[in-house]
Amino acid sequence: MMAAIREAVRHIQTRVQRRPAVAVVLGSGLGAFADELAERVDIPYAEIPGWPGSTAVGHAGKLAIGRLGGLDVAVMAGRAHLYEGYSPAQVTYGVRVLQALGVRSIVFTNAAGGINRALGRGGLVLISDHLNLQGSNPLVGPNADELGPRFPDMSEAYAPAYRETAKQVAAELGIAVTEGVYAAVLGPSYETPAEIRYLRTIGADVVGMSTVPEVIVANHMSMKVLGISCVTNMAAGILPQKINHEEVLETGAMVRDTLVRYLKSLLPRLEAQS
Ligand code: HPA
Repeated sequence: MMAAIREAVRHIQTRVQRRPAVAVVLGSGLGAFADELAERVDIPYAEIPGWPGSTAVGHAGKLAIGRLGGLDVAVMAGRAHLYEGYSPAQVTYGVRVLQALGVRSIVFTNAAGGINRALGRGGLVLISDHLNLQGSNPLVGPNADELGPRFPDMSEAYAPAYRETAKQVAAELGIAVTEGVYAAVLGPSYETPAEIRYLRTIGADVVGMSTVPEVIVANHMSMKVLGISCVTNMAAGILPQKINHEEVLETGAMVRDTLVRYLKSLLPRLEAQS
């Protein structure tokens, strides 16, 4: 795996000279931000050694590297999920490659179901903490001591300073955000109403099927993390209607412009404090 990562970095460095210290991972329906980068180089995942999907069929996605104002930024448009059958190592491969490229600050976005009744469709939630209910951990197995400790601390997995900055920038832009706990489940079926009642009881505000493995790996390597959930739908049993993937993508399209505006202001501010 370490050899594959070195090869991936080498490949990316043959395509781009930039050395971004900041990266963004875009969730379902939130891919538009990649288009904001100037002097952008798009590298299809299929081209990058070891990247999940580079051998499987039909997995779209690309790594985009370019400039945002005066800042070099890497954007992962598309990610691998455990529910697709990828291993925890594959799901977190992109984060490992970004770290090896020099990324130290990383913003994860995702689509999520709203569990907290105060939330509404289209709302943005700054992730304050998470519940890992996926039944796996990407750090299982021999520890890569050169990257981080065997038993990494997770008490500030979502950097408090980044959350403060994110709240400030949101206020300045007039974008409504709240804070909440993200519960990660395996999927791909949506939850039952009973499962949502359970998740609410144990302290979850939103639920989704991604992000947590990547955040664990990022913390292991001492990267600074911000997480933003977009409430694409209210979770099962809250509204008298079924959940469907179309609604999730539709809401993603609805908040796209707001999220792009937010990230454009936010990334330079995160970089300035890292
Ligand atoms: N549940 C789990 N994952 C999700 C949901 C949901 O309701 N919406 C978007 N991702």
